[in-house]
Amino acid sequence: MHLLRSVALSLLAGTSLAHPGGDSARLSAKQPRAAGYSLKEPPLTTPWTDKVGTDPWPEYPRPQLQRSQWQNLNGIWQYQNASGLTAVQNPPFGQELAQEVLIPSCLESGLSGIMGEFTLYSWFSTKFKVPSDWNGQNILINFGAVDYEATVFVNGKKAGFHRGGYFRFSLDVTKLLKSGQDNELLVFVHDPTDDGDYVIPIGKQTLHPSHIFYTPCSGIWQSVWIEPVPSNHVSRLDIDGNMEGQVNMTVHTSSVNTTSSVRVAVHDGDKVIATHRGPTNQPFQFKVDSPKLWSPDSPNLYNITVELGKDQVQSYTGFRTIEKGEVDGVVRPLLNGEFIFMFGTLDQGFWPDGIYTPPTKEAMVYDLQVLKKLGFNMVRKHIKVENELFYRACDEMGLLVIQDMPALRPLQSKTLSNCTSQTYLPDATQQEEFTRQLEVLINQHKSFPSIATWVIYNEGWGQITSYYPEFALTDLVRQLDPTRLIDSTTGWYDHGAGDFSDNHHYSDPQCGTPFYSTASSPYDDTRIGFQGEFGGLGNNVSIEHLWNNQAAIDSINQTYELDLTLEAWNYRSHILLNELQNQVRLFACSGGVWTQTTDVEGEVNGLITYDRRLSRVDEDQWKSDIQGLYDAAKARSNSTMST
Ligand SMILES: *[C@@H]1O[C@H](CO)[C@@H](O)[C@H](O)[C@H]1NC(C)=O
Ligand SMILES: *[C@@H]1O[C@H](CO)[C@@H](O)[C@H](O)[C@H]1NC(C)=O
Ligand SMILES: *[C@@H]1O[C@H](CO)[C@@H](O)[C@H](O)[C@H]1NC(C)=O
Ligand SMILES: *[C@@H]1O[C@H](CO)[C@@H](O)[C@H](O)[C@H]1NC(C)=O
Ligand SMILES: *[C@@H]1O[C@H](CO)[C@@H](O)[C@H](O)[C@H]1NC(C)=O
Ligand SMILES: *[C@@H]1O[C@H](CO)[C@@H](O)[C@H](O)[C@H]1NC(C)=O
Ligand SMILES: *[C@@H]1O[C@H](CO)[C@@H](O)[C@H](O)[C@H]1NC(C)=O
Ligand SMILES: *[C@@H]1O[C@H](CO)[C@@H](O)[C@H](O)[C@H]1NC(C)=O
Repeated sequence: MHLLRSVALSLLAGTSLAHPGGDSARLSAKQPRAAGYSLKEPPLTTPWTDKVGTDPWPEYPRPQLQRSQWQNLNGIWQYQNASGLTAVQNPPFGQELAQEVLIPSCLESGLSGIMGEFTLYSWFSTKFKVPSDWNGQNILINFGAVDYEATVFVNGKKAGFHRGGYFRFSLDVTKLLKSGQDNELLVFVHDPTDDGDYVIPIGKQTLHPSHIFYTPCSGIWQSVWIEPVPSNHVSRLDIDGNMEGQVNMTVHTSSVNTTSSVRVAVHDGDKVIATHRGPTNQPFQFKVDSPKLWSPDSPNLYNITVELGKDQVQSYTGFRTIEKGEVDGVVRPLLNGEFIFMFGTLDQGFWPDGIYTPPTKEAMVYDLQVLKKLGFNMVRKHIKVENELFYRACDEMGLLVIQDMPALRPLQSKTLSNCTSQTYLPDATQQEEFTRQLEVLINQHKSFPSIATWVIYNEGWGQITSYYPEFALTDLVRQLDPTRLIDSTTGWYDHGAGDFSDNHHYSDPQCGTPFYSTASSPYDDTRIGFQGEFGGLGNNVSIEHLWNNQAAIDSINQTYELDLTLEAWNYRSHILLNELQNQVRLFACSGGVWTQTTDVEGEVNGLITYDRRLSRVDEDQWKSDIQGLYDAAKARSNSTMST
């Protein structure tokens, strides 16, 4: 321990640690006991595992479209495995289901109380009453995210269907409800992940976890809540605030084809600093005089209220402009007109106790605080989409976000009847669905000020190469959101689309350099030179900090590089960060992504371990090496010309 200089994270000091193979009864002893539900001991816990209880995620889940009245439906629901896709034709209305389950959760997680495998078809049910003072209003049921397809029934009638594991949806169930009585909510979920011939957006999930692919998530993994609304109500807000103080806004409403008038007010604390009247369902613009700009160093946000008839919603924005431009002859990403060196980590967003669902908001924000404290100004949300409070936290803390589209079934092949092997790629229908979900990703997230860049493809995963779909997809993303940069292909296969010339290289970087290696393309000086991934230095830890699963442990030696001590790990980190700094000074490097925030299952290459209990970093050294990158970038930052 002395040799390793392992530092127990100060936040966690004093928490009693439950370790794998321990007594799960002890873990759950503190929980209020709802019959049937108990936490299942996962292969590794976090300091928050036993703080989840049976009332998880109490926060209002939609920070950019908040209403004052709402009721959380998170908590203990019932669950049962279903026999297959046809089960949806015969819903178990009015029946007790076999087991209790915690919502939101992934069925594969210990926190769900199920910890299932191959949970492809499932039933979930709960009961709820609508508060009597909501009478006369319409009632929406909102789901933060259900992986992958949800068929929703209320009181024995179908209320709606949704496809796509990462996106929110709302159903107006007013006509199906009984006033003053219990209402039955029944949800059928189908989540194939990478079963059979399915090619759908799944990111790092696989039914057969190994090395860089992890345990999947099935089911209702983000918050569920109800709220009362007038029949014509705000359904989506698109807000962009730029460095000139211009707000460009679209207020989408449930009556999509009618235009009514909305009143908008921008607040600075208690003061109203701008008001405007605009139409619904079309963009309008207005100006706020000299707002304090948003940046990682000064993450200023302004509250916004929107009134449409009796519907009043709260939102917010930050004023900033992201674009590319030439600085001393090099194409650079610009924030508010100045070259910003974007430096962050590859952030997988996996948890040993919750898989895709962080145990608590505090836990989720903890990872971001680790990054912010070391001086990172960015986080690359890697082929996963988080709940909206994650982006809100990045807006508040000042962390730019590079947001990846979740990849289609990566790096898998099937054997055809003529015995040849073929990589799984989307057919025309699957590609169309991928495109639709990409569009949903952009539309649902484009109002978060911290998001700076959209990524379409990661390392060629699911990327058709017989034609180059990334060009049309880049045009589509640009049209949906002209205010961000687009990294069309991070890693490979790069045919020239988008704003970045993005190299992945382990362990050492090759960022905007006149040298490159196989798989990557040479630096293209018409675009931003970027190191989309590097690092990945590994360091094994003792069993109480490892995902205690033999297959995962057996894959540890597939790490790009294993360093036997933390001194060696920090020494190697220092060398790689200095190499990157040289590439900033000498060549055309505009930013980079270090692999990665945390260990995940069999990957032991995090700044912190998978359980978030140990940090590998020598803080002073890392802070100074990261600052060195910004200083090197600054030294090359005169005479900016935006393009
Ligand atoms: C669920 O049911 C299916 C079909 O009956 C079965 O193949 C599968 O193993 C079951 N899964 C679980 C987690 O019980
Ligand atoms: C406002 O935003 C919309 C997309 O939401 C975009 O099409 C339009 O060009 C923007 N207008 C201005 C003036 O920025
Ligand atoms: C809105 O208008 C479009 C095209 O005019 C039409 O296809 C759609 O059904 C209308 N939607 C509603 C809710 O009336
Ligand atoms: C926005 O409003 C919330 C309460 O609704 C308040 O806590 C927060 O301080 C406000 N932020 C700003 C920047 O005015
Ligand atoms: C095997 O079948 C596939 C799909 O029909 C075809 O594209 C491929 O050319 C065949 N390979 C050989 C060696 O016949
Ligand atoms: C990593 O450590 C675990 C125990 O902590 C051990 O079982 C495993 O063999 C080690 N793997 C490597 C590659 O060092
Ligand atoms: C990696 O470790 C596993 C078991 O821990 C072993 O079977 C395998 O041979 C090792 N592979 C390499 C390349 O060292
Ligand atoms: C501005 O650029 C010149 C040449 O490109 C360089 O010599 C000088 O050091 C730069 N100035 C600053 C303040 O970095």
